[in-house]
Amino acid sequence: MFERFILKATNANHARNRNERILKANEMHPVVNAIKKNKLKPKNLLEIGCSTGFVLKKINELTNAKCYGLDASKKAIQDGKLLFKEIKLYHGILERSKLQNDKFEVIVLGFFLFLIPPKNILNLFNIIDKMLKDGGKLIIYDFYNRGYKKKPYKHNKNLSTFRWDFKKTFLSLPQYKLIYKKINNYKETNDKTEVSILQKKI
Ligand SMILES: C[S@@+](CC[C@H](N)C(=O)[O-])C[C@H]1O[C@@H](n2cnc3c(N)ncnc32)[C@H](O)[C@@H]1O
Repeated sequence: MFERFILKATNANHARNRNERILKANEMHPVVNAIKKNKLKPKNLLEIGCSTGFVLKKINELTNAKCYGLDASKKAIQDGKLLFKEIKLYHGILERSKLQNDKFEVIVLGFFLFLIPPKNILNLFNIIDKMLKDGGKLIIYDFYNRGYKKKPYKHNKNLSTFRWDFKKTFLSLPQYKLIYKKINNYKETNDKTEVSILQKKI
């Protein structure tokens, strides 16, 4: 049920934001900025919630990493495949993706966790943990949240948003350490976003 709604809602989201996502991101993008500040130079990198791959295109240019992207919006992936040919783009959700069999030095969770119902989160994070190499980095980009808030998703009546501090789940495990955190003010909505980088060391 959730899967059906999310696949549909993400195409509508792409239609609303397409103009900003068909151009390569710049160095002000919070994830690009975090990668630059931390001098990350992975051999490979996966972004989940990559839209067209516009952020990956910039990351690829800066780091030379082999970049992979997964997005639930079919339309975003179709656009991205035409625009950013050097990025490997896949349509779908991680829980059903063959990318689960691969390992990555960096995994970016690109601003979609707020749509995942908490009952689905441990399964998703378990898959991500298995896919992240030892010594790898997990980058979480989402709203900045202190407590827990559930709200109706204003763009789709079948979905809700769930805002909380996602990184705490990983940080409760001894193999994850927080190595970077930046909170940004998002002026248009008076909201705050956060990018954090967690290092995995077994
Ligand atoms: C707000 S956009 C962020 C785009 C880009 N990552 C960035 O940092 O600017 C979120 C993207 O996540 C995708 N998305 C939402 N839920 C998803 C899911 N469960 N799995 C994969 N992609 C998802 C949407 O289609 C959308 O392209």
